[in-house]
Amino acid sequence: MGPLLPTEKGRRATLTRSAPSYLPRDISTLQLDVMAETLGRLHLTLKDPASPRYEVPFITSQTRGHKDIQNPLYDVDFQPDPFGFIVRRKSNGRVLLNTTVGPLLFADQYLQLSTSLASSVISGLGEHYTPITLDLNWSSVSLWNRDMAPHRSANLYGSHPFFLVQEGDGQAHGVFLLNSNAMEVFLQPGPALTWVTVGGILDFYIFLGPSPQSVVQQYHEVIGYPMMPPYWSLGFHLCRWGYTSTNITRTVVQLMRQAKIPLDVQWNDLDYADQRRVFTFDPQRFEDLPQMVKDFHQLGMKYVLILDPGISSASPPGSYKPFDEGLKRGVFIKNSTGQILIGKVWPGPTAFPDFTNPTTQDWWMDCIRVFHSKVPVDGLWIDMNEPSNFVQGSVDGCPESDLEKPPYTPVVIGSQLNSATLCMSAQQYLSNHYNLHNLYGLTEAIATHSALLKVKSTRPFVLSRSSFPGLGRFSAHWTGDVRSDWEQLRFSIPGVLLFGLYGVPLVGADVCGFGGDTTEELCVRWTQLGAFYPFMRNHNDKPNAGEAYYSKGQYILFPAPLDTINVHVREGSIIPQQLPALTSTASRRNPFALIVALSEGNWAKGDLFWDDGESLDTFERGNYSYVFFFAKEVLTVPGLELPMTAMITVQWS
Ligand code: NOJ
Repeated sequence: MGPLLPTEKGRRATLTRSAPSYLPRDISTLQLDVMAETLGRLHLTLKDPASPRYEVPFITSQTRGHKDIQNPLYDVDFQPDPFGFIVRRKSNGRVLLNTTVGPLLFADQYLQLSTSLASSVISGLGEHYTPITLDLNWSSVSLWNRDMAPHRSANLYGSHPFFLVQEGDGQAHGVFLLNSNAMEVFLQPGPALTWVTVGGILDFYIFLGPSPQSVVQQYHEVIGYPMMPPYWSLGFHLCRWGYTSTNITRTVVQLMRQAKIPLDVQWNDLDYADQRRVFTFDPQRFEDLPQMVKDFHQLGMKYVLILDPGISSASPPGSYKPFDEGLKRGVFIKNSTGQILIGKVWPGPTAFPDFTNPTTQDWWMDCIRVFHSKVPVDGLWIDMNEPSNFVQGSVDGCPESDLEKPPYTPVVIGSQLNSATLCMSAQQYLSNHYNLHNLYGLTEAIATHSALLKVKSTRPFVLSRSSFPGLGRFSAHWTGDVRSDWEQLRFSIPGVLLFGLYGVPLVGADVCGFGGDTTEELCVRWTQLGAFYPFMRNHNDKPNAGEAYYSKGQYILFPAPLDTINVHVREGSIIPQQLPALTSTASRRNPFALIVALSEGNWAKGDLFWDDGESLDTFERGNYSYVFFFAKEVLTVPGLELPMTAMITVQWS
């Protein structure tokens, strides 16, 4: 390490590695900048002075350019060889960070730094399915935005390379590594941690607090304070994937009002869109969508619908303006050879807008403006924006390269960075997708927030699934596809609290759970908890039965995609089912369920013969069970033509 010399913003030194690290494309000379930006905030960067590397755009601009200040809450010392820095709290001499405990590695696609920690009570480094404090017992967390239902050890929808350390005496500090590349943080019982990131620069902010609240405030000063939400967004929101028509959506609102349950905001999921293409609405089932929204407004309610970023690329030319126009204006992400990258999402083949491109932001605003002139939505729900892709990379795969398979890949679901998303070599306006992947949701949120602001001139409401530091300035967040069970209810509490740390305070989990069937007790308790989420929305997955139609004497054309079996059930029948498995030996051990199709007279019956499946003459010898089911409707909900519950009698012999 050379001498630390004063600069306009702080002090600067050159680091030169004396022995090679043997990592591919090692960078042996680094520039260290140390900036005491405020009394409580120290900023340290390590970069390559010889050639500029990718740095995270969009955030922190308002804080750059401070002069070195006098008498801060911290001291920082340097160990020249091997290089390391030690940050102390000046008031009590406590060592907060000590990076001399391990080597600094800085290669093109592998940057590593370790530090000791002042305590084991650390929170952050989301988005993961964890308690409020992290497990430091030789665990690791990877930060890589991914469409993944919350479960342990998985990288989820957002990335937040920030953590808060509680020092044990009421004082706290925080550390933010501003880097958007795929990252893995190794947590050790020392207590210590090691950051490994596969690109960009090392850009550290250290916040001295001293209270936990002031740490969070100092962090938000860097990433931007949260937006002021519209008041109505603090009310109760109701959604479901499976409100398949305006009639059903209107009925739901009517029933809520009849039951005198407060409802501020009614939502529609992708059901509204014509062939699942955003900026359209189904000409039959959602024909009167504009009128429905106006009617809800008359009731003093608001309306939000979903907008996925994937733009269908398979409609005949001239029939789907968002794609045609986007193509003309060059708004889509390109593959490594310069053609539009095509992936697959709900509408089938799709192109992905590059929100880092100002032209895309204009096009997105035009799409929203035109749609809003027909359907006066109050807010927008931006889903699938990790971005999620049902094929790996693109429909044409991805080229072999160090971007697709870097020398080190953090432990991520799917084992590859391009799993369930775009090729890493895909080209965006500001850089490649390898660098920008974790920013996709943030950039979409910025574009959507600004479009709503211009189109409506009121406080925008945006709900984003994917997140990165700074999201809270533009958007709310929900915790994704949580399962309907008690454990997920419990984990939603740290999930919601942690997003407060991350600067996205308008956050909630899907009340009653999204996936699987909820129960009355779980749903009641979750509703009680949800009343304390800043953002309270009840949202559920489609009913498990891929969609139900009830008909009599009609011709109906059913969609029959390759992966769907249309099952027709005769009225009055009860059909026993078991969960599938890879063999019938395994599936016959699975729990049973019943499909009950009540008749016009509101009854149904069915039966089941069950033996061991292989012995001879079981019927003759009576070595079997015979179960007879009879169902009779006992409760209907006024206004809904479908019976809600039925009493089932089982006779067993
Ligand atoms: C995934 C989202 O997480 C979920 O909330 C939504 O219902 C589905 N996409 C369908 O749009």
